[in-house]
Amino acid sequence: MKRSDLMTRRAALGGLGAAFAGAPLLKAQQDPFRDHSRIPGMDELTTVREFEAVAYAKMPRNFFMYMAQGGEGEVTLRRNREAFDWVELVPKSVVDVSSVQTATEILGTPMAFPIMTSPTAFHIQLNPEAEAATYRACQAASNTPYIVSHNHSIPLEKIVPAAKSPLWFQLYPQKDMGATQAWVDAAQAAGGKGVVITVDQQATAYDRAGHDRHLLVAGPTTPTRRAGDAPATGARAYGVPEGRLWYTWKYADQVKAMLKVPMIAKGILTGEDAKLCIEHGFDAIYVSNHGGRSVDYGPSTLEVLPEIVDAVQGRIPIMFDSGIRSGSDILKALALGANVVCVGRAHRWGLAAYGAPGLQRVLEILQAELVAAMAQSGRPTLASIDRTLVKTHFR
Ligand SMILES: Cc1cc2nc3c(=O)[nH]c(=O)nc-3n(C[C@H](O)[C@H](O)[C@H](O)COP(=O)(O)O)c2cc1C
Repeated sequence: MKRSDLMTRRAALGGLGAAFAGAPLLKAQQDPFRDHSRIPGMDELTTVREFEAVAYAKMPRNFFMYMAQGGEGEVTLRRNREAFDWVELVPKSVVDVSSVQTATEILGTPMAFPIMTSPTAFHIQLNPEAEAATYRACQAASNTPYIVSHNHSIPLEKIVPAAKSPLWFQLYPQKDMGATQAWVDAAQAAGGKGVVITVDQQATAYDRAGHDRHLLVAGPTTPTRRAGDAPATGARAYGVPEGRLWYTWKYADQVKAMLKVPMIAKGILTGEDAKLCIEHGFDAIYVSNHGGRSVDYGPSTLEVLPEIVDAVQGRIPIMFDSGIRSGSDILKALALGANVVCVGRAHRWGLAAYGAPGLQRVLEILQAELVAAMAQSGRPTLASIDRTLVKTHFR
């Protein structure tokens, strides 16, 4: 990535301002009767959503917007959240839930909870220690497996020694097979326990950027074309980032031949594609619409999950993300057939708000909420969570 994407003068000044805004000295001097005028301490926060507001207060606005936005008009971004409201939890009432069991395993990776950290790019925008801080926080939160983004912002040599808990790696398909091989070799040498290939497109057109009159950043939010630009070629001509829209299932076959660890397809939204994944040797399906950042007007992931579960018929595990903000969200996805749930923006909010301890806290809140939701719904084990727990009202 370009240096300008990482730190502009505007961003540096914004960061400095945010640091002062969060400083204890300033906090002490503020009017105690105006609660909203200060940034709360981490221990004051009780839900994951509250971390977003603190991240907003502390982050340079352009980096916050890059994180928050969805493709085009953000219809899918909103739908990802709305879909959780369309699923009811129907509790069993007379069940002994004195001991709730959440430990599980996916493709040889043990987990204390069925929760992982989604791959997201450029953690340097969130914290100076970037992905190394994320990895430490994941380990601290009961060894939550961390999927490192292809677009990590510090070298692997700085990320990998930061902790010892399970690491997976995410790959954006590389047309150059030499580059693909080099990436696979690096991921495996770094001890990666799984390789996630992201196959969705991701948008480059964001209405939100237009509302800001494109004043914010050059970089991830740059519109595809502006008046006077040379005509776009390749994938950019179709409004998606360079490097997409060329691969076929053959690419999966080629990567599979390079791998000694499991291969996972991220961005699957239909039962038909899920079946093709199995035919082409994928070891797990990762249902995701990139957190509403891919094709707008696509369905929410929760809505397509049952169709994919039916197509897969238990042959390989199913991972799920897009919209997870609470333990009951996780429970609903598990009830509809996901084996493991991944957390995207929420982990970024924690890291941006309070550094590694913030990210750890976000994961721990989700873990505790999942345990509480399981107990309240009379499902003390993962095996006891099934479709009878939910009623869906998808529109
Ligand atoms: C700022 C940001 C950067 C992301 N970067 C990547 C990436 O590099 N690779 C990838 O496969 N997905 C990426 N994603 C998508 C996430 O892996 C995940 O699918 C999504 O965040 C889940 O939705 P949620 O944010 O509602 O939890 C990114 C998402 C966000 C918000």
